[in-house]
Amino acid sequence: MEKIKIGLIGLGTVGSGVLEMVSNNQAKISNITGRELIIKTIAVRNVAKHRSEVSDDIILTDNVDDIINDPEIKIAVEVMGGIDPAKEIITNLLNAHKHVVTANKDLIASHGDELARIARKNNADLVYEASVAGGIPILRTIVNSFAADEILEVKGIVNGTTNYILTQMQQKKWSYEDALKKAQELGFAESDPTNDVAGIDATYKMIILSQFSFGSHLALDDINIEGIQNIKLEDVAQAADFGYTIKLLGIAKRVGEGVFAEVAPVLVPSDHPLATIHNENNAVMVTGQAVGETLFYGPGAGGLPTANSVLSDIVSVTKNIALGTTGNTFNNYQHESEPIDKGD
Ligand code: HSE
Repeated sequence: MEKIKIGLIGLGTVGSGVLEMVSNNQAKISNITGRELIIKTIAVRNVAKHRSEVSDDIILTDNVDDIINDPEIKIAVEVMGGIDPAKEIITNLLNAHKHVVTANKDLIASHGDELARIARKNNADLVYEASVAGGIPILRTIVNSFAADEILEVKGIVNGTTNYILTQMQQKKWSYEDALKKAQELGFAESDPTNDVAGIDATYKMIILSQFSFGSHLALDDINIEGIQNIKLEDVAQAADFGYTIKLLGIAKRVGEGVFAEVAPVLVPSDHPLATIHNENNAVMVTGQAVGETLFYGPGAGGLPTANSVLSDIVSVTKNIALGTTGNTFNNYQHESEPIDKGD
């Protein structure tokens, strides 16, 4: 069977999940794609730290050029996160005609259009299902299953860390600080959890969701953002007394020809489906003109759930390579909407 060689960049929670899934799920992947996937090279910052986690037949390097310049590697998977140096690395990978799968919401929300142009120029695939709502296959669902319907609103819980914190504060009466510390230990939080608790991570995901739903090109400055840093145990308890649950919601909706978006803690009636989403789980509610309200639920963070979305992208790229239909980027929405002035 023909082999497809992969370079993996980053071996944290998600990277380890990708390694595990490629090894454990090979038979199914080969059946679907007609190709055998081989992780040839893994680039990490500290080779010595990771040597024992990786079998000897995989090249472990601290030099990402070993992936960029290797003509055998067809697909690169970037799970290191952050904008620098990931932007330069992905640009170089695409210019070297590698197909790129990434989980990097910061980068895609900030520079997705530019990277998609570079991908198209090089006939390379650029896909990033894992960048929004971890294990929920929401981007491909919007692209495929809402292909004809007009999306009116997309909203939901798109940050696992803050949902985990708010759940522990409500159900176990943990302090905000203790719950955040536990979320970090469990590997849900970003390396700098400020992005989680301040609502920035959720905003990046809403920027991507808005682009898929409305063709908008929102920037952080276009969006009202409020995090959960000031929510106290008393607030959570008082909300519950009145029949509400505090959730960090992202909302984006079509308003005339434009798009309005915000991220903020919201009092959700406790019998609303979004109030029942607990721990690190996420949920995305997509309202279409024809279909009405739909709800997609699942783990929003964590190694294997996020790795499953990465693998769905790898399989999709592998099929494109097999069929000779590469050059696909998610980012090809034709119908464009402008941001609505947020009014401050
Ligand atoms: N820090 C993110 C979260 C990880 O908590 O949702 C998944 O994007």
